[in-house]
Amino acid sequence: MYAVAAPPIGVPADDVVIRPARLSDIEAIVALHREAFADTFGAAFGPRDRERGAQALATGWRRQGPAALRGMLVAEYAGQLIGTTSLRTRDMIGDGGGFAEAAFFETLGVWGALRSLFALSLLDHQIERGEGFIADVAVAPEWRRRGIARALLQRAEDDARARSLTYLGLYVRESNHGARALYERLGFQAMYIRRSLFARLFFGQDGWIYMRKDLA
Ligand SMILES: CC(C)(COP(=O)(O)OP(=O)(O)OC[C@H]1O[C@@H](n2cnc3c(N)ncnc32)[C@H](O)[C@@H]1OP(=O)(O)O)[C@@H](O)C(=O)NCCC(=O)NCCS
Repeated sequence: MYAVAAPPIGVPADDVVIRPARLSDIEAIVALHREAFADTFGAAFGPRDRERGAQALATGWRRQGPAALRGMLVAEYAGQLIGTTSLRTRDMIGDGGGFAEAAFFETLGVWGALRSLFALSLLDHQIERGEGFIADVAVAPEWRRRGIARALLQRAEDDARARSLTYLGLYVRESNHGARALYERLGFQAMYIRRSLFARLFFGQDGWIYMRKDLA
């Protein structure tokens, strides 16, 4: 059902598994995100603290336990994590328990933590009732353009329907033409662009486009 379109030669499409994330995936997830979201990590933690920021994130998730990974799906091939996405809902708000924040202060110091938490808060989204908010869409570079993101998003959409959510929403950077093409191909439509002075200072010149797909 979630078979990938063009697996590498010798890899049967069915061998790529889409499943909920587990605590034992945390290191691999953070490694994938550090690479796939290098610009966001760099902006949030500063170029010199990117590595420590990634470790702080992993520590916070580990301490929080399974709730940290609620709604996250991974794509796995032969025991290797090759992609992620998350489907977040309104009832997951406030799940954090302060673990990530505490890990940030321990690892990055007061100013580093405040800077990172402020930068990350600029990407916050108030999830509405009925909305399935999609985040963490990332595929390992050597696996791109093989249908992995499509399969992950299809599974997230199926999960959203099963939870009686009425639409999916997500943010994508204006300059991320590959991801925008992916979402448009899957039926998402651009609704508005979010720009802020601080976001521009931290994350570069462009804004974030909110895209939505109705699940009629
Ligand atoms: C964006 C990303 C998740 C796409 O993952 P992927 O597994 O390569 O995507 P898929 O193979 O499922 O693509 C499905 C369709 O989306 C479109 N698409 C995906 N990536 C594209 C790109 N770079 N350029 C143009 N179209 C693209 C194509 O129509 C593609 O179908 P096709 O290959 O048959 O033409 C991946 O490039 C990535 O991890 N990028 C870095 C992280 C990122 O930007 N995430 C999005 C944050 S909002």
